[in-house]
Amino acid sequence: MRILFVGDVVGSMGRDMVNEYLPKLKEKYRPQMTIINGENAAGGRGITEKIYRGFLEAGAQAVTLGNHTWDNKEIFDFIDGAKYLVRPANFPENNPGKGLIYLKYNTEEIAVISLQGRTFMQPSDCPFEKAEQLVNEAQKRTSVIFVDFHGEATSEKQAMGWFLDGKVSAVIGTHTHVQTADNRILPNGTAFMSDVGMTGPYDAILGMEKESVLKRFITNMPVRFEVPNEGRTLLSAVVIDIDMKTGKAKKTERILINDDSPFYS
Ligand SMILES: [Fe+2]
Repeated sequence: MRILFVGDVVGSMGRDMVNEYLPKLKEKYRPQMTIINGENAAGGRGITEKIYRGFLEAGAQAVTLGNHTWDNKEIFDFIDGAKYLVRPANFPENNPGKGLIYLKYNTEEIAVISLQGRTFMQPSDCPFEKAEQLVNEAQKRTSVIFVDFHGEATSEKQAMGWFLDGKVSAVIGTHTHVQTADNRILPNGTAFMSDVGMTGPYDAILGMEKESVLKRFITNMPVRFEVPNEGRTLLSAVVIDIDMKTGKAKKTERILINDDSPFYS
Protein backbone atom coordinates (compact mmCIF):
# COMPACT_ATOMS: atom_id res chain seq x y z
CA MET A 1 0.00 0.00 0.00
CA ARG A 2 1.12 3.51 -0.70
CA ILE A 3 0.87 6.49 1.68
CA LEU A 4 1.17 10.07 0.51
CA PHE A 5 2.10 12.43 3.34
CA VAL A 6 1.91 16.18 2.74
CA GLY A 7 3.98 18.36 5.07
CA ASP A 8 2.91 21.27 7.20
CA VAL A 9 0.26 23.22 5.31
CA VAL A 10 0.65 26.91 6.16
CA GLY A 11 -2.25 29.34 5.74
CA SER A 12 -4.51 29.91 2.75
CA MET A 13 -1.68 29.62 0.22
CA GLY A 14 -0.86 26.19 1.60
CA ARG A 15 -4.50 25.14 1.43
CA ASP A 16 -4.70 26.38 -2.17
CA MET A 17 -1.65 24.25 -3.02
CA VAL A 18 -3.34 21.19 -1.51
CA ASN A 19 -6.49 21.83 -3.52
CA GLU A 20 -4.53 22.40 -6.72
CA TYR A 21 -1.98 19.59 -6.47
CA LEU A 22 -3.60 16.82 -4.45
CA PRO A 23 -5.65 15.63 -7.45
CA LYS A 24 -2.51 15.73 -9.64
CA LEU A 25 -0.40 13.90 -7.04
CA LYS A 26 -3.10 11.28 -6.58
CA GLU A 27 -3.26 10.72 -10.32
CA LYS A 28 0.53 10.41 -10.59
CA TYR A 29 1.30 8.36 -7.48
CA ARG A 30 -2.05 6.62 -6.83
CA PRO A 31 -1.74 6.46 -3.02
CA GLN A 32 -4.28 4.45 -1.04
CA MET A 33 -3.90 6.75 1.96
CA THR A 34 -3.24 10.48 2.08
CA ILE A 35 -2.25 12.17 5.34
CA ILE A 36 -1.79 15.92 5.76
CA ASN A 37 -0.09 17.79 8.60
CA GLY A 38 -2.44 20.71 9.16
CA GLU A 39 -1.17 22.27 12.36
CA ASN A 40 -0.37 25.61 10.66
CA ALA A 41 -3.31 25.57 8.28
CA ALA A 42 -5.37 28.36 9.92
CA GLY A 43 -3.28 31.49 9.40
CA GLY A 44 -0.13 29.65 10.49
CA ARG A 45 -1.49 28.67 13.89
CA GLY A 46 -3.81 25.73 14.46
CA ILE A 47 -6.76 24.48 12.44
CA THR A 48 -10.51 25.16 12.15
CA GLU A 49 -13.30 22.67 11.51
CA LYS A 50 -13.88 24.09 8.03
CA ILE A 51 -10.22 23.61 7.11
CA TYR A 52 -10.13 20.11 8.60
CA ARG A 53 -13.23 19.14 6.62
CA GLY A 54 -11.75 20.80 3.52
CA PHE A 55 -8.69 18.52 3.75
CA LEU A 56 -10.91 15.45 3.98
CA GLU A 57 -12.95 16.66 1.01
CA ALA A 58 -9.73 17.30 -0.93
CA GLY A 59 -8.90 13.61 -0.44
CA ALA A 60 -7.03 13.22 2.84
CA GLN A 61 -7.89 10.31 5.15
CA ALA A 62 -6.20 11.82 8.21
CA VAL A 63 -4.91 15.20 9.43
CA THR A 64 -2.04 15.40 11.92
CA LEU A 65 -1.20 18.31 14.22
CA GLY A 66 1.71 19.53 16.38
CA ASN A 67 2.76 22.28 18.79
CA HIS A 68 0.12 24.69 17.41
CA THR A 69 -2.73 22.24 18.08
CA TRP A 70 -4.53 24.49 20.57
CA ASP A 71 -3.68 27.88 19.02
CA ASN A 72 -6.97 28.27 17.20
CA LYS A 73 -9.56 28.02 19.96
CA GLU A 74 -12.20 26.70 17.55
CA ILE A 75 -10.55 23.29 17.90
CA PHE A 76 -12.14 22.78 21.32
CA ASP A 77 -15.58 22.87 19.66
CA PHE A 78 -14.93 20.08 17.16
CA ILE A 79 -11.94 17.94 18.18
CA ASP A 80 -14.05 15.42 20.09
CA GLY A 81 -16.07 14.63 16.96
CA ALA A 82 -13.14 14.81 14.52
CA LYS A 83 -12.41 11.12 13.94
CA TYR A 84 -9.53 11.68 11.55
CA LEU A 85 -7.68 14.40 13.45
CA VAL A 86 -4.53 13.29 15.30
CA ARG A 87 -2.78 15.52 17.84
CA PRO A 88 0.51 14.71 19.57
CA ALA A 89 -0.07 11.68 21.79
CA ASN A 90 2.41 12.84 24.43
CA PHE A 91 0.35 15.85 25.46
CA PRO A 92 -1.03 15.53 29.03
CA GLU A 93 -3.54 12.70 29.50
CA ASN A 94 -6.36 15.13 30.33
CA ASN A 95 -6.15 16.90 26.92
CA PRO A 96 -8.99 16.42 24.44
CA GLY A 97 -8.45 14.58 21.16
CA LYS A 98 -6.49 11.48 20.20
CA GLY A 99 -2.86 10.75 19.41
CA LEU A 100 -3.54 7.40 17.73
CA ILE A 101 -6.25 6.65 15.20
CA TYR A 102 -7.02 3.75 12.90
CA LEU A 103 -7.98 4.13 9.24
CA LYS A 104 -9.89 1.43 7.39
CA TYR A 105 -8.22 0.01 4.30
CA ASN A 106 -10.32 -2.70 2.62
CA THR A 107 -10.71 -5.33 5.35
CA GLU A 108 -7.62 -4.14 7.21
CA GLU A 109 -6.52 -1.08 9.14
CA ILE A 110 -3.57 1.25 9.36
CA ALA A 111 -2.59 3.16 12.49
CA VAL A 112 -1.62 6.84 12.48
CA ILE A 113 0.28 8.22 15.47
CA SER A 114 1.34 11.80 16.19
CA LEU A 115 4.15 12.58 18.64
CA GLN A 116 5.93 15.78 19.55
CA GLY A 117 9.63 16.20 20.32
CA ARG A 118 10.96 17.70 23.54
CA THR A 119 14.22 19.22 22.32
CA PHE A 120 13.85 22.99 21.75
CA MET A 121 10.08 22.55 22.09
CA GLN A 122 7.37 23.18 24.68
CA PRO A 123 7.52 20.66 27.54
CA SER A 124 5.57 17.45 26.97
CA ASP A 125 5.56 13.86 28.19
CA CYS A 126 8.37 11.61 26.91
CA PRO A 127 7.73 10.90 23.21
CA PHE A 128 9.80 7.70 23.34
CA GLU A 129 7.89 6.22 26.25
CA LYS A 130 4.58 7.20 24.63
CA ALA A 131 5.71 5.81 21.27
CA GLU A 132 6.52 2.45 22.83
CA GLN A 133 3.17 2.31 24.59
CA LEU A 134 1.12 3.24 21.51
CA VAL A 135 3.07 1.03 19.12
CA ASN A 136 2.48 -1.97 21.40
CA GLU A 137 -1.22 -1.09 21.43
CA ALA A 138 -1.45 -0.55 17.65
CA GLN A 139 0.48 -3.74 16.82
CA LYS A 140 -2.41 -5.75 18.26
CA ARG A 141 -4.59 -4.43 15.42
CA THR A 142 -2.25 -3.81 12.48
CA SER A 143 1.32 -4.08 11.28
CA VAL A 144 1.04 -0.85 9.26
CA ILE A 145 1.82 2.07 11.57
CA PHE A 146 2.59 5.61 10.39
CA VAL A 147 4.23 8.05 12.83
CA ASP A 148 4.36 11.83 12.33
CA PHE A 149 7.09 13.01 14.71
CA HIS A 150 6.72 16.77 15.13
CA GLY A 151 10.06 18.09 16.35
CA GLU A 152 12.69 20.77 16.02
CA ALA A 153 15.90 18.76 16.39
CA THR A 154 17.02 16.42 13.62
CA SER A 155 18.92 14.43 16.26
CA GLU A 156 15.76 13.73 18.24
CA LYS A 157 13.91 12.80 15.05
CA GLN A 158 16.68 10.45 13.91
CA ALA A 159 16.71 8.95 17.40
CA MET A 160 12.97 8.24 17.11
CA GLY A 161 13.52 6.65 13.70
CA TRP A 162 16.09 4.24 15.11
CA PHE A 163 14.03 3.68 18.26
CA LEU A 164 11.06 2.53 16.20
CA ASP A 165 12.97 0.81 13.37
CA GLY A 166 11.28 -2.51 12.66
CA LYS A 167 8.33 -1.67 14.90
CA VAL A 168 6.49 0.80 12.64
CA SER A 169 6.22 1.36 8.89
CA ALA A 170 7.31 4.99 8.87
CA VAL A 171 8.65 7.76 11.10
CA ILE A 172 8.38 11.03 9.21
CA GLY A 173 9.46 14.32 10.79
CA THR A 174 7.47 17.54 10.60
CA HIS A 175 7.71 21.05 12.11
CA THR A 176 10.95 22.53 10.75
CA HIS A 177 9.27 23.39 7.41
CA VAL A 178 12.45 22.60 5.48
CA GLN A 179 12.47 19.35 3.54
CA THR A 180 15.45 17.14 4.26
CA ALA A 181 17.03 14.92 1.62
CA ASP A 182 17.55 11.96 3.97
CA ASN A 183 14.49 9.84 3.18
CA ARG A 184 15.52 6.21 3.49
CA ILE A 185 14.53 2.77 4.70
CA LEU A 186 16.20 1.86 7.99
CA PRO A 187 17.69 -1.69 8.21
CA ASN A 188 14.64 -3.25 9.89
CA GLY A 189 12.12 -1.82 7.43
CA THR A 190 11.03 1.56 8.79
CA ALA A 191 10.81 4.47 6.34
CA PHE A 192 12.47 7.54 7.81
CA MET A 193 12.86 11.20 6.87
CA SER A 194 13.98 13.95 9.26
CA ASP A 195 11.47 16.44 7.87
CA VAL A 196 8.97 16.30 5.04
CA GLY A 197 8.94 20.12 4.68
CA MET A 198 6.10 22.61 4.33
CA THR A 199 3.33 23.56 1.93
CA GLY A 200 2.48 27.25 1.44
CA PRO A 201 4.35 30.51 0.83
CA TYR A 202 7.65 29.98 -1.01
CA ASP A 203 9.20 33.49 -0.81
CA ALA A 204 8.93 33.51 2.96
CA ILE A 205 10.82 32.33 6.04
CA LEU A 206 9.41 28.95 7.13
CA GLY A 207 6.06 30.10 5.74
CA MET A 208 6.00 33.45 7.59
CA GLU A 209 6.24 36.87 5.97
CA LYS A 210 9.97 37.47 5.60
CA GLU A 211 9.91 41.19 6.50
CA SER A 212 8.54 40.51 10.00
CA VAL A 213 10.99 37.67 10.62
CA LEU A 214 13.88 39.83 9.41
CA LYS A 215 12.76 42.64 11.71
CA ARG A 216 12.85 40.24 14.67
CA PHE A 217 16.38 39.11 13.81
CA ILE A 218 17.73 42.57 13.05
CA THR A 219 16.16 44.46 15.99
CA ASN A 220 15.88 41.55 18.48
CA MET A 221 12.52 43.05 19.45
CA PRO A 222 9.18 41.24 19.60
CA VAL A 223 7.42 41.18 16.23
CA ARG A 224 4.21 39.36 15.37
CA PHE A 225 4.71 37.05 12.42
CA GLU A 226 2.07 37.05 9.70
CA VAL A 227 1.50 34.49 6.98
CA PRO A 228 1.62 35.98 3.47
CA ASN A 229 -1.47 35.47 1.33
CA GLU A 230 -0.01 36.19 -2.08
CA GLY A 231 3.11 35.24 -3.98
CA ARG A 232 4.84 32.05 -5.05
CA THR A 233 4.08 28.75 -3.36
CA LEU A 234 5.55 25.31 -2.69
CA LEU A 235 4.32 21.87 -1.71
CA SER A 236 6.39 19.31 0.16
CA ALA A 237 5.45 15.66 0.54
CA VAL A 238 6.71 12.11 0.62
CA VAL A 239 5.39 8.85 -0.76
CA ILE A 240 5.96 5.61 1.13
CA ASP A 241 5.33 2.10 -0.19
CA ILE A 242 4.54 -0.43 2.51
CA ASP A 243 4.09 -4.20 2.47
CA MET A 244 0.61 -4.68 3.95
CA LYS A 245 1.45 -8.11 5.43
CA THR A 246 4.70 -7.27 7.20
CA GLY A 247 4.18 -3.53 7.67
CA LYS A 248 7.70 -2.97 6.36
CA ALA A 249 8.45 -0.03 4.07
CA LYS A 250 9.83 -0.87 0.65
CA LYS A 251 10.42 2.49 -0.98
CA THR A 252 10.20 6.22 -0.34
CA GLU A 253 10.13 9.15 -2.72
CA ARG A 254 10.46 12.83 -1.90
CA ILE A 255 8.10 15.31 -3.54
CA LEU A 256 8.93 19.00 -3.78
CA ILE A 257 6.91 21.30 -6.01
CA ASN A 258 7.94 24.93 -6.52
CA ASP A 259 9.14 27.22 -9.30
CA ASP A 260 12.67 25.81 -8.96
CA SER A 261 11.43 22.23 -8.98
CA PRO A 262 8.30 22.14 -11.15
CA PHE A 263 5.73 19.35 -11.10
CA TYR A 264 5.71 16.87 -13.97
CA SER A 265 2.68 14.64 -14.31
FE1 LIG B 1 5.09 22.96 14.41
